[in-house]
Amino acid sequence: MKTLAPVAAIDALEDATWLDPVVEFEHRLSRAIFKPQWLRDLLHGVPQGHPLHPPLVQVPLGAWFSAAFLDLVPGSEEASRRLVGAGVVAAVPAIAAGYTDYGDLHEQQMRVGLVHAAANLTAVGLYSVSWLARRSGRHGLGKTLSFAGLSVAGVGGFLGGHLSFRQAAGANHVEDVPHRVAPGWHSLGPVDELPTGTLTRRTVGDVPVTVLRQESSDAVFVIADLCSHLSGPLHEGELTTGAPGEGPCVTCPWHGSTFSLRDGAVVNGPATAPQPSFATRVVDGRLEVSLPGAG
Ligand code: FES
Repeated sequence: MKTLAPVAAIDALEDATWLDPVVEFEHRLSRAIFKPQWLRDLLHGVPQGHPLHPPLVQVPLGAWFSAAFLDLVPGSEEASRRLVGAGVVAAVPAIAAGYTDYGDLHEQQMRVGLVHAAANLTAVGLYSVSWLARRSGRHGLGKTLSFAGLSVAGVGGFLGGHLSFRQAAGANHVEDVPHRVAPGWHSLGPVDELPTGTLTRRTVGDVPVTVLRQESSDAVFVIADLCSHLSGPLHEGELTTGAPGEGPCVTCPWHGSTFSLRDGAVVNGPATAPQPSFATRVVDGRLEVSLPGAG
């Protein structure tokens, strides 16, 4: 089946390198505005374990869809105006979360993200002017601007869907791991052949894992190697001691997500999903690993 024309156009947009000067400027601006790590984590959705931007956009869109419905009902001008205004206010945190996510994407995703953001900001602008027009009693103009805003927001939403489902921005990139690892214990070879105090890569079947054999104890930590954010190779990341209670941590070399090697938990985003963490044991001098929930 042929790809629909709008999707083919967005596919072409992914490779529109002429956008890159603006893409790069916005990338740097995003990281400069939302600098504190706690704020970035909050806006990425680390505390919730899910990206925050998608649920936040439901609020302005819900308000604006409701306003559009009321605009077709005579005598609903005041309620419609309030919904339009509520949508504009609710768009602010949604924009902040989306703009934070934008700062940690691949280039192709940022190109689509740039146009997605431009469409949505245009929609917010149209709705803002619509609210002002309605407040001054020009309800006909307000309705026209609102329907224009809804149309542009629809284009923005379509691009957002492409980002999420075609380009997998915000998706958990290690969701497949438990389905690719067979249940039970798997040998990773003689434990004495593992380097100590440094990250190394091994495979369980065809699934890459990051392994840390600690210098100070017999403990060996094993988590999935490809980062849940966008598949960065964690064994090439930075090893840190971590805060008390977190144990040793690894920071992804691509966008800086940090995971506890003890249990794969997200310490810092942009990742929101934890790394699959393997149980370990040593049998006859060989390291064996098992993934809870595998199969
Ligand atoms: S791939 Fe983005 S933080 Fe790891």
